[in-house]
Amino acid sequence: MAKKKIALIGGGQIGGVLAQLIGLRELADVVLFDIVEDMPQGKTLDIAEASRVDGFDVSLKGTNSYKDIAGSDVVIITAGLPRKPGMSRDDLLTTNAKIMKSVAEGVKENAPDAIVIIISNPLDAMVTLFQKVSGFAHHKVIGQAGVLDSSRFSTFIAWELGVSVKDINAMVLGGHGDTMVPLVRYANVNGVPVMELLERKYGDAAKAKEVMDAMVQRTKMAGGEVVKLLKTGSAFYSPASSAIAMAEAILGDQKRVLASCVYLNGEYGVNGYYVGVPAVLGENGCEKILEVTLNDEEQAAFDNSVSAVTNLVADMERLGF
Ligand code: APR
Repeated sequence: MAKKKIALIGGGQIGGVLAQLIGLRELADVVLFDIVEDMPQGKTLDIAEASRVDGFDVSLKGTNSYKDIAGSDVVIITAGLPRKPGMSRDDLLTTNAKIMKSVAEGVKENAPDAIVIIISNPLDAMVTLFQKVSGFAHHKVIGQAGVLDSSRFSTFIAWELGVSVKDINAMVLGGHGDTMVPLVRYANVNGVPVMELLERKYGDAAKAKEVMDAMVQRTKMAGGEVVKLLKTGSAFYSPASSAIAMAEAILGDQKRVLASCVYLNGEYGVNGYYVGVPAVLGENGCEKILEVTLNDEEQAAFDNSVSAVTNLVADMERLGF
């Protein structure tokens, strides 16, 4: 079987970790593209030189030419500036929209058959813009946010309950901003509702709710918490791992159900916007959207998050993108 090929557009913090993870998992050959001269070549050389020690056998090429991404099965985009302390993801809009436009043109011309995963922020707007400029089918353009936000939520729950994070199932829907919607009611530990376990732990429903509210709030602000500590950039290990889970689902046609920023065509009452919802990812990209029944409170939170996304897209359009 011919090896698969993944192109990484953006060879910064996330791009570098992506390249290393793809190597470690022997997921595909890698092309790492960046506009900075020599840097992607240096990073791929460095990672390749660990291949004997780690025992992996993939080709890793760093480049400044879009021509090298030809034939890619999956393209993962991290091109764009990260946040600095005090910035929201939306503050990156103008700068990153310019970058995303040029990236979409490069990918369209050189890897027209690829399935594209976008990580650059503000995520929901960047996914919308990439699809618009490239003209790629909506189901082939997917944003990474929900896998990471869900993993963050799951991590906090595992810490709180003192159980393995592997047994936590929790999902976050909506836009990738402060309005995101961690689905508390559906969060469970191997099927047992997290709220039930919290109520048992504290013997008090009000206290359990207070603890859960704090975890929800921390999840919403988790990206900013990392930015504040790093001071020079934003999270990069966890976004890279999250995108790899999506790429694996696509390349392996796994039909995994992963919270992803996908195009809604009436689902969840949303028409014509990219928003985070549970999606089935397989060889055709987003193959299906799973609709979860939301109660009034959850629906109101979801609607509020959708408004944040539509406002962001409107702002981007006003800026001429
Ligand atoms: N084409 C390709 N790459 C570009 C372009 C461009 N037009 N403009 C900038 N880049 C590259 C930069 O040279 C840099 O190497 O994008 C890379 C971004 O890397 P970092 O600054 O290290 O940022 P990173 O932490 O990887 O985050 C990238 O993902 O999570 C989001 O908010 C984050 O938008 C940010 C993106």
